[in-house]
Amino acid sequence: MEYINYGEFVYKNDELYCEDIPVSQIIRNVGTPAYIYSKKYITRKYLSFSDAFKEVDHKIFYAVKSNSNLSILKIFAGLGSYFDANSIGEIERVERAGVSPSRIGFSGVGKTEEEIEFALSNEILVFKSESEEEIILIDQIAGRLNKKALVSVRVNPDVDPHTHPYISTGLAENKFGINAADSLDVFRRCSRLKNVILDGIDMHIGSQINNPEPFVEAVSKLSEIFFTLKGEEINLKHVDVGGGFGIKYKTEIPLNIIATANKLIPLFKKLDCEIYFEPGRFLTANSGILVSKVLYSKKNMNKHFIIVDAAMNDLIRPSLYDAYHYIQPLMVLNGKKDIYANIVGPVCESGDFFAKERVFPLMSRNDLIAIMSAGSYGMVMSSNYNARLRPAEVLVDNHSFSIIRSRETIRHMLYDEEELLKG
Ligand code: LLP
Repeated sequence: MEYINYGEFVYKNDELYCEDIPVSQIIRNVGTPAYIYSKKYITRKYLSFSDAFKEVDHKIFYAVKSNSNLSILKIFAGLGSYFDANSIGEIERVERAGVSPSRIGFSGVGKTEEEIEFALSNEILVFKSESEEEIILIDQIAGRLNKKALVSVRVNPDVDPHTHPYISTGLAENKFGINAADSLDVFRRCSRLKNVILDGIDMHIGSQINNPEPFVEAVSKLSEIFFTLKGEEINLKHVDVGGGFGIKYKTEIPLNIIATANKLIPLFKKLDCEIYFEPGRFLTANSGILVSKVLYSKKNMNKHFIIVDAAMNDLIRPSLYDAYHYIQPLMVLNGKKDIYANIVGPVCESGDFFAKERVFPLMSRNDLIAIMSAGSYGMVMSSNYNARLRPAEVLVDNHSFSIIRSRETIRHMLYDEEELLKG
């Protein structure tokens, strides 16, 4: 099999390092399964994104949903990032990472009254709204609290992002945004609300987009709406492009951010307003891996199964989207025979797999594997299914590493239920 370097995960002397530390050394301390992230990688990706768009006045709202560990949020805070949050929980996370609410945008297709009130009281920067009813509710709650709410309206530009249907969000048939044709009237009506200030127009067409064209097409559609509104004295201050910037899992040619910027910047210059972005995966996916240990190997009929100690509850992307994650041993296993293997977890479901029919060395008990590109939508989508305890998370910074979330314990998992049983 091929041993592949990803970002700061590089093979040196036949073993996988994260920055300057052998991953196996971290695992000796924290055990498996464990998520390991590189601070240097996140920093580099953030700066490269920002640099690509430096010709235009812009703000990057890191999409908290992709990885919301407080220590990861703190890295972004240190880089001067803004934050795209999707719930009260994500707003709390950002604030508890020490960030001012004035750096938070609040997205989401279904914000509750409680969430709107919380966000207004906390004075977040901007609501990104997806329905007229929600904007009217924001206006009412803002009036009651004697506040003014900045709102941007998410428009569904009906553009095909050519990605997995589950993560494609900008087609007319999706639940997201307000369709482009109706949006003008929504802007017009909402511009008359007393406690809402229309600040921008917003889009997010999907995730893992590896070609600039869908972005160009969608920004062009948003621009038409922007200029029509301008002609009617509805002057928006920003255009929000959303997230979706694709990365390399293995075979894809990843989105070239400089080429994408070069295509978008002329459109942005015409708009002559502030540009917002909401990248998640682009910044964090290849900052992280999930390390797991081989429990057993066996052969059923003609199929080889390598059973590892991580499972679908730890990283659900393969089970949920049939997503591809490259998997490789931490140590280069010279001289071991390559087989076609299914790499599976211990959960009682056939859908509990990480890879099917992959060329993989025949591994032994206690060998360690790295599931690559697991820094986004990994730990955040984990669960306690099968009453499994969630993995530890570790952050590497040059020669040192720190545990940024301990491995879950039975006490963590059962605390509330046991307290309730006590009555
Ligand atoms: N902004 C909004 C409003 C979003 O809904 C999302 C992601 C993002 C930004 C960030 O998108 P990104 O840059 O990370 O593509 N769980 C799926 C991905 C779901 C994405 C949901 N929205 C996966 O594991 O592939």
